[in-house]
Amino acid sequence: MKIVIVGAGGRLGAALMREYQDKFDVSGFNHAQLDLSNLDDLREKLNATNFDVLINAAAFTNVDLCETQRDRAFLINAEAPGVLASICGEKNAKLIHFSTDYVFDGEKPEPYTEEDEANPISVYGESKLAGEKNVLAAVGEADGFPGTATPSHTDNPVPRHLIVRVSWVFGPDRPSFIHTIIKRARKERQVDAIADKFSTPTYTRDIAEMLPRFFTGVAVAETDGHGSRTTAGRGSGIPTGITDPGYSVSDYGGILHFANAGECTWQEYAQWALDCCHEAGLPLKAKTVGALKLEEMKDWVARRPVYSVLSTARYTHLTGTPPRAWREAVADYITRFYSKK
Ligand SMILES: NC(=O)c1ccc[n+]([C@@H]2O[C@H](COP(=O)([O-])OP(=O)(O)OC[C@H]3O[C@@H](n4cnc5c(N)ncnc54)[C@H](OP(=O)(O)O)[C@@H]3O)[C@@H](O)[C@H]2O)c1
Repeated sequence: MKIVIVGAGGRLGAALMREYQDKFDVSGFNHAQLDLSNLDDLREKLNATNFDVLINAAAFTNVDLCETQRDRAFLINAEAPGVLASICGEKNAKLIHFSTDYVFDGEKPEPYTEEDEANPISVYGESKLAGEKNVLAAVGEADGFPGTATPSHTDNPVPRHLIVRVSWVFGPDRPSFIHTIIKRARKERQVDAIADKFSTPTYTRDIAEMLPRFFTGVAVAETDGHGSRTTAGRGSGIPTGITDPGYSVSDYGGILHFANAGECTWQEYAQWALDCCHEAGLPLKAKTVGALKLEEMKDWVARRPVYSVLSTARYTHLTGTPPRAWREAVADYITRFYSKK
């Protein structure tokens, strides 16, 4: 099975490249090698490349810049994913496309499920939602159920594309919120973070570990024991199309939420990161994180959802394994990448 990663130079794409290099036949295109805003070039390069699974980790991710560059945001985040989905359809390959918690408006007081209606409040969120719809439309299910599976036992099943929504992604391949907080805490006695915005930090390493279960055509042994068959059933909130023991989780298509478990504010996230650094003996000037209000972020151009926690109940039900807690993931990351610096 051959995997190609688009956006291989980004925070998530680079992590997937590294984590998969010894496990799968994987190659990637970074931004310089493949520009999603050049659709002709995209078609030409990908049509000439063989793969069974195409992972799109590329996106125009600058939320504020998207507000003033709407056309560019829609070209990269919406139109290009539709083209990727069509190319995959022609090749009988599965597209795994990453999306975001920012497709939600943040008005819900509890974790968003895959069935909740998306209602973006920024151009970034709008463009990413349009990308999801274009991917689903390419396999003729834009208005269909957000998640189901084709039977793995039929002859030549058409792979279903998978849209993976993630939140607050962190990892070693590009600076993220944790990096900024630790850098500040090394220099300054006082660091602050927003205390009235909620979601869940998600470690790229954990996304890389969770994803292979959904690589169509990968045998259980190849996925390091995670290519399990679902036991989901009626009344479980899981589409009934995947209740048959003949269906494999790897055939699952549609929308799926991936995040570490739990939820927090940015202040709690930052405080935990500093606590882990102190525990690891890192010399920091700041010990506690002060509270900021979302309304104080005067430089932000785009609106952000106040509450965008993604429910991972479906992922847990499908795989039988819950994602690990965000605190554990942050502690692991700091131990691996900061404790010896
Ligand atoms: N980061 C988060 O907190 C977060 C939260 C929710 C969802 N997501 C989603 O997760 C996915 C991965 O995000 P990430 O955190 O890895 O973001 P990232 O570090 O910004 O990576 C995005 C990658 O896409 C590339 N890219 C941008 N425009 C491109 C174009 N026209 N053609 C080809 N490549 C292009 C970027 O290259 P350059 O840097 O060279 O432009 C970069 O390598 C995205 O779908 C994003 O929407 C991220």
